[in-house]
Amino acid sequence: MRTVLVLNGPNLAHLGNRDPEVYGSASYANLVATVTAEAVALGLGTDIRQSNDEAELIGWLHEALAQKQDVIINPAAFTHYSYALRDAAEMLTKSGLKLIEVHISNPSAREGFRHTSVISGVATGTIAGLGINSYLLALRFLAN
Ligand code: DQA
Repeated sequence: MRTVLVLNGPNLAHLGNRDPEVYGSASYANLVATVTAEAVALGLGTDIRQSNDEAELIGWLHEALAQKQDVIINPAAFTHYSYALRDAAEMLTKSGLKLIEVHISNPSAREGFRHTSVISGVATGTIAGLGINSYLLALRFLAN
């Protein structure tokens, strides 16, 4: 079974408590359960991780590169300024792997600093603003 690596950046472990008007009421555990169930239905395996640490996320992208795994990533605030994460993401997509950037909210409809994504330009595609469905649609794309 093909396994997709699903990475979540800083503060996403606090889903449910964090700004529910923006991010919804589902907890991080709900996110993990929903994404896992959809992957099973699509015949995919998932390895779902969260870190507040830029270096750890970069290390996980390197791991995906070595293991030839497609990635779904919600880079959270790193989306807007982490050139290091961008460069790691670029290595994946340049090698032919897929990397889908996802967001729960629609950053383009929020504060100005969220309108820039340094990841989008090297991602296979970006899905934003659909709540947890952003992850589910990314999985569907990768299943095809
Ligand atoms: C986010 C949007 C980012 O701007 C923010 O920093 C996050 C979450 C989202 O999923 O909507 O932490 O990536």
